[in-house]
Amino acid sequence: MRPIRRQPWQLPETDVTPEAAWRDRRRFLREGGAVLGMPLLFGLFGREPPPPEPPILPGRYPAPRDPRFVPERPPTPEDLFLSYNNFYEFGTGKDIRGTAQALRLRPWTVRIDGLVERELELEVEDLLRRMPFEERIYRFRCVEAWSAVVPWTGFPLRRLVELARPRAGARYLRVESFLDPEVAPGQKQPWYPWPYVEGLTLAEATHELAFVATGAYGRPLERQNGAPLRLVLPWKYGFKSAKSLVRFTFTDRRPRTFWSRVVPHEYGFWANVNPEVPHPRWSQRTERPLGSDERIPTRPFNGYGEWVAHLYRGLEGERLFM
Ligand code: MTE
Repeated sequence: MRPIRRQPWQLPETDVTPEAAWRDRRRFLREGGAVLGMPLLFGLFGREPPPPEPPILPGRYPAPRDPRFVPERPPTPEDLFLSYNNFYEFGTGKDIRGTAQALRLRPWTVRIDGLVERELELEVEDLLRRMPFEERIYRFRCVEAWSAVVPWTGFPLRRLVELARPRAGARYLRVESFLDPEVAPGQKQPWYPWPYVEGLTLAEATHELAFVATGAYGRPLERQNGAPLRLVLPWKYGFKSAKSLVRFTFTDRRPRTFWSRVVPHEYGFWANVNPEVPHPRWSQRTERPLGSDERIPTRPFNGYGEWVAHLYRGLEGERLFM
């Protein structure tokens, strides 16, 4: 039987290092690094700094903003979005930004397969060249009860589904993150079922709000936020928004997702935001916007109920909110 381990991101917020403390630590590391010099550090640990990679299609940023999506709160400060992350491939803490820089973005081959008219394998730049870019400012709600407002750049997931041309039997879309334990130390931990996998119904994947982000804050995504492409599903808990994707598979079976395999009684397939349904170990009634100590009420479907509630009619017997 798989041992159940408590994940650090399942800790109650009260157990998490206060933001001021980790910011100080980050400043110490940054300034310390500048004093010591990166070459010396790399020399000490026997690693070569990776050669710099040019950003992917930088000329496409900033993209025109979709005026339909204007949250009532201003965007989260960019530096916080870039430095407070969940990306278990690179570690279980929030401070994985440095480690994530080992991720190589070229070549980056994306596979579209399963129940489709014709399977496709293409380099990420070729895929992105076929997609229309826009900016959408969405609310983002992590299951841990912190939240953000993020100006994403990217394209509707529906456009990728149209490119894939799913066959009649396809009912679900399974997405898969990269697998490379050589660059991602977390993937050496055998108790996690790597690679990270998420899934949606086809109705969810073709919904107007479902988005593939390639950038944020008017420029290409950084590695720690899921470069070169990730999902953004603003009405669901953040763990559904899988990062650094390499494969999109159309299938007639409900995908077994990463967290539902690790802790099935806490994280399910649907994971729609609902303040009335507590996590087994904490309330979901309120959330803490990143960068503040304030608690604000969480809204059903993260405030996108008018858009998405109809997707779940007739599914009331399912565990839609975990
Ligand atoms: N995708 C992968 N591949 N690995 C992860 O660990 N964490 C998820 C999601 N996508 C995760 C992932 C969780 S729990 C959250 S809250 C968001 O990414 C965090 O996104 P951010 O770091 O860009 O804010």
